[in-house]
Amino acid sequence: MDNRIYIFDTTLRDGEQVPGCKLNTNQKIDIALELERLGVDVIEAGFPISSPGDFASVEAISKAVSYPVVCGLTRAVEKDIKVAAESLKYAKRPRIHTGIGTSDSHIIHKFNTTREKIIERAVSAVKYAKTFVEDVEFYAEDAGRTDNVFLAEVIEAVLKAGATVLNIPDTTGYCLPEEYGQKIAYLRDNVPGIEKAILSTHCHNDLGLATANSIAGALNGARQIECTINGIGERAGNTALEEVVMIMKQHPYLNLITGIETKLLNPISHLVRDKMGMPVQPNKAIVGDNAFAHSSGIHQDGVIKQRDTYEIMDPRDVGVDTSKIVLTARSGRAAIAYRFKQIGFDLTKDELDLVYSLFLSVADAQKEVINEDLEKLIAKVRVNSPV
Ligand code: KIV
Ligand code: ZN
Repeated sequence: MDNRIYIFDTTLRDGEQVPGCKLNTNQKIDIALELERLGVDVIEAGFPISSPGDFASVEAISKAVSYPVVCGLTRAVEKDIKVAAESLKYAKRPRIHTGIGTSDSHIIHKFNTTREKIIERAVSAVKYAKTFVEDVEFYAEDAGRTDNVFLAEVIEAVLKAGATVLNIPDTTGYCLPEEYGQKIAYLRDNVPGIEKAILSTHCHNDLGLATANSIAGALNGARQIECTINGIGERAGNTALEEVVMIMKQHPYLNLITGIETKLLNPISHLVRDKMGMPVQPNKAIVGDNAFAHSSGIHQDGVIKQRDTYEIMDPRDVGVDTSKIVLTARSGRAAIAYRFKQIGFDLTKDELDLVYSLFLSVADAQKEVINEDLEKLIAKVRVNSPV
């Protein structure tokens, strides 16, 4: 089986759905062009029927980007599909993403219908979408909570109707990694002809398992991962693009590769954060402010001696210039001497001893000790005991 994992970015659709993250068309084009530079394979540009603004954005992105597939979301409804096709008419590589809920919860409470009718609607939607574009992705919404035997029936039917990509969303973020991996494996083993299509993961993060579930999916044969920059998305968010990409890069024996230019991960994270006004938590993996910051004395001493004692990736690989040594009341002498050296002071051992006790009282009084504080401290020590 081919080991290339396609990265399907849905920052501009599932991500932009988040309250407060709304963007205008120009802002979306800026992000789409950066996603193209990043090397994503598919850009889900919006949900064209949802508003005239979203339609215009999908159309504008279709014109603006050259290499990635541009995808528009629809429900399994003819009008949605027709409008999506219209919005994608300038795309060099258009894809319609259509689908319907397949779990009993959705079938009974959302649609008040039967499993048989759901299959009929799914098949008609795919067939109708195929009249506009060759590339049709089908999503089985709430596949995470859908019985595997029925899910396989749905997938077999839409595959026969011409679906090229089969999306198995864990819409509610409910699955455990093993369970989600087994779901993908079950489909691979039980749907005749499934090798003709690409299986896709689309995992939400309600239990903090979106990334683990996506990787489990890929290890069991999914070849497309749907994800967003900074993991933004409905409720607790989607799989974070930067996380799945770096997991695959840092664990080469998994034998899963992407086309992502990882040095652009931090710059694009900042771009999305700033345009959407959606802050990134400091301890966020890969792109949080503290992802390469060290504050305890033991860790600082190790990192100063050899970076990989406490870092499993080189910050430069993800577009961060350097690791950070943050000076706090937990810092040790090694970190303080190191920082003094960086700002031009080579301390003697006696100076370091004197400055260290002064440093601790400043550090106990404030969250972080900055270079200006250090300059004041060394001035005080050198006035009292000039060399
Ligand atoms: O979470 C989900 O199921 C979705 C689908 C519309 C793909 O976002
Ligand atoms: Zn989603």
